[in-house]
Amino acid sequence: MNKKDKIDLSVNFAGIKAPNPFWLASAPPTNTGYQIMKAFDAGWGGAVWKTLGMPTINVSSRYGSINYGDTRMAGFSNIELITDRPLEDNLREMAEVKKYFPDHAVIASLMVDTRQEWEDIIKQVEDAGVDGIELNFGCPHGMCERGMGSAVGQEPEVLKTIVEWVMEAANIPVITKLSPNITHITDPGLAAVHGKTDAISLINTVKSIVGIDLDSYAPYPVVDGKGTNGGYCGPAVKPIALHMLKDLMQHPEIKNTPISGIGGIETWRDVVEFILLGATSVQVCTAVMHYGFGIVREMEAGLINFMENKGYTTIYDFAGKALPNVTDWKHLNLKSEVKAIINEDKCIGCGLCYIACDDGAHQAIALPTDGGRIPIIIEENCVGCNLCSLVCPVEECITMEKFDDGKEHETWHELTEQNRIPNTWNDDRAGGKGHYVPEPADALKNKRKDKSGTK
Ligand SMILES: Cc1cc2nc3c(=O)[nH]c(=O)nc-3n(C[C@H](O)[C@H](O)[C@H](O)COP(=O)(O)O)c2cc1C
Ligand code: SF4
Ligand code: SF4
Repeated sequence: MNKKDKIDLSVNFAGIKAPNPFWLASAPPTNTGYQIMKAFDAGWGGAVWKTLGMPTINVSSRYGSINYGDTRMAGFSNIELITDRPLEDNLREMAEVKKYFPDHAVIASLMVDTRQEWEDIIKQVEDAGVDGIELNFGCPHGMCERGMGSAVGQEPEVLKTIVEWVMEAANIPVITKLSPNITHITDPGLAAVHGKTDAISLINTVKSIVGIDLDSYAPYPVVDGKGTNGGYCGPAVKPIALHMLKDLMQHPEIKNTPISGIGGIETWRDVVEFILLGATSVQVCTAVMHYGFGIVREMEAGLINFMENKGYTTIYDFAGKALPNVTDWKHLNLKSEVKAIINEDKCIGCGLCYIACDDGAHQAIALPTDGGRIPIIIEENCVGCNLCSLVCPVEECITMEKFDDGKEHETWHELTEQNRIPNTWNDDRAGGKGHYVPEPADALKNKRKDKSGTK
């Protein structure tokens, strides 16, 4: 048996079993049994059905996007409502999918209004044989105007009451899906836990306007000359999702509730990052709408490869491993020091790092005066901000190297406790004191009088 064979990707998420943690989020890719069967056949382990609720009418058009540089759909927006397909059709197809794929997770996403409606629809999806229920408290457009979706996600007390109704009625595991359109995600997170939810998923979409059409002067997507705010998702929202996941996983009363991570997931690396912050299943929408169900093959191969290299056999071996390393700023080591180093063999002499540091950072990069094209780092000016390494178009050309000897450790928290924080601008202990900056008038000279710029 080789190492790969020992790896077990299966999950038991709050009682919902699936062959792997790759699930489809409730959205257009889960609108029909046809799509979900195709997805399971391609390798997805679970699917949250497009939200079922009450009869709706959708508009045309529905989607907008942020194209950044050559990248299409770096961010994606929609003003679509919950499913507009007849409930009976969805229920029949759910039962059929479960017949073909009994070991895969089929989860019914639900959004209704009154207690009676919740009880009725829960009974119907349970009878259809689904493995779990997800409560959609997230839609930031349309449904929230009718008191549902994010209107619930933004009112912890209302959310808790509905979770309680659902928990009383349901006989299968319940996942509460949260809206990111709130200042403290722990407020609805805690409300869901107090309502006794079995699990949480997040994030739903971020309330947004992706752009304005310069002919009709209406926001995208334009519907007959008018628009409305949409829900933003795709790669652009991943940082928001990771941060909210971390907030929930570090909360003492929430951290033991399983969380399904959603938001901008596209590659195996994204999956690993969500798991490292504690998610034990992930859900994907935009990446599938962009590239199709086949992306799961790269996710699976990459995840297995990562686990093999690190010696993990299940995802529970590394779930949450990054959490102890996410701390408050005041606990970061003020004595740690990194500086930029340019690899001359890789540098293509584009000058981007020079411009970025001179105009946007700390004037710590000089251009050579001898006709060469490789910029020079002025070590004593470099504060180690990373900017040059981030703008450099060549992989690993500028690296940030450790300059301190690793022996000293001092944090703002410790300084405060010991009453040693700087308390005047001229205090020798203040951070910026003594840092080199050019004189204002130097901006008007064409060359700086620094290492390389002396005329
Ligand atoms: C067109 C579209 C329709 C969506 N419909 C639903 C829905 O019916 N129910 C729901 O809970 N989330 C819905 N979502 C939100 C997704 O399930 C998901 O939470 C969000 O898109 C973030 O994931 P992503 O970045 O992978 O797209 C929808 C998203 C999109 C783009
Ligand atoms: S790390 Fe920051 S300060 Fe240092 S050279 Fe790069 S851009 Fe300048
Ligand atoms: S950005 Fe990178 S490649 Fe361009 S000059 Fe600077 S080090 Fe060289």
